[in-house]
Amino acid sequence: MSMGAPANEVELRHVSKSFQSHPAVLDVSLSIGAGEFVTLLGPSGCGKTTILRMIAGFEAPDSGSVFLRGRDVNGLPPHRRDVCTVFQQYALFPHLTVFENVAFGLRRRKSGEAETAKRVRSALELVQLVGTEARRPAGLSGGEQQRVALARALVLEPKVLLLDEPLAALDLKLRRQMQSELKRLQRQIGIAFVFVTHDQEEALTMSDRVAILRAGRLLQIGTPEDLYDRPETRFVADFLGEANILPARILSRDDTAVRIGVAGSVLNLPHFPGAPSSGEFLLAVRPERIALRCEPGENLVPCRLQERTFHGEAVTYRVQTGDGTVVQVRNAEGENADVRIRSTDRLFIDLDSASPVVVRDDRN
Ligand SMILES: Nc1ncnc2c1ncn2[C@@H]1O[C@H](COP(=O)(O)OP(=O)(O)OP(=O)(O)O)[C@@H](O)[C@H]1O
Ligand SMILES: [Mg+2]
Repeated sequence: MSMGAPANEVELRHVSKSFQSHPAVLDVSLSIGAGEFVTLLGPSGCGKTTILRMIAGFEAPDSGSVFLRGRDVNGLPPHRRDVCTVFQQYALFPHLTVFENVAFGLRRRKSGEAETAKRVRSALELVQLVGTEARRPAGLSGGEQQRVALARALVLEPKVLLLDEPLAALDLKLRRQMQSELKRLQRQIGIAFVFVTHDQEEALTMSDRVAILRAGRLLQIGTPEDLYDRPETRFVADFLGEANILPARILSRDDTAVRIGVAGSVLNLPHFPGAPSSGEFLLAVRPERIALRCEPGENLVPCRLQERTFHGEAVTYRVQTGDGTVVQVRNAEGENADVRIRSTDRLFIDLDSASPVVVRDDRN
């Protein structure tokens, strides 16, 4: 542990892991502070569960190290790590009551009867299940079973709780409700959560920071706002929310401005971060940041409406520019704008005010 600075709750340094020479996790470095809610987000098979299993001690890295509170835990068995895991399939014991399910870990630790009863009670209070002690899992709803699984981990008072897609089995409404409950719980008890999901909205709404993984690699980690507003790669821009990825080219530049060609038009932009000095690059633009105008103007790209989709809270317009580029625009400016947009043949998109960001192409 370095002197002075408080140790991270969890730290992975250059961790790699292969199964039968197939790499599952590749050179991942990542740290999680005390009380932080960090989400691992990525498509199926990208290594999320493997990372959790290495933190918990069920799996050993081939190379690199896992540190818990500044201590290298290589070789330390799971039950000595002060880390608990809530698995996707809650793995409750069907023949045991709620009380006995929650008490299970304490009994293995030879906790006394009075102490066990007290701690089970406070864990059930945390997840708001007091009164269900005598019931069995089969008699509980999905959300209640989920909360028993949480209580079973929390009762051991871990420093870190690992949650592997804990809400995946719940229907949408219950899932949203459990998301805010989990978040409340995490704030209340103040321990670090490492949460796995492949639901991007869940990641954005719950986390202090999100780590985006792809094929075993950590692509980017940051606050939800960081990742959404400043994705570094095409994959991150696409994976988190929706993005228009527009090929662009530097035409010329001087001290104050850059001329770029994009979507068949020429735009004069002030210097922007990440712009190359010449050549081609990619811009990512969020559909809801683009304004759709009915009048021509400076730095506007002419286009035609191809398709309009009504979503209730918003309308998405699919427009096509002169060179055939298709751009999605999400516009919630009210009915009047919608009526005008639908009734005109000539439309213009404002990319300039849409905060486009330069992204690296990492499609392969
Ligand atoms: N015990 C194992 N033996 C062989 N291959 C494994 C093992 N565990 C994981 N893998 C492989 O390692 C890769 C990463 O798996 P992992 O379970 O970590 O992915 P994941 O991101 O959790 O995916 P999902 O979202 O589907 O749960 C996958 O290609 C998987 O097939
Ligand atoms: Mg998994």
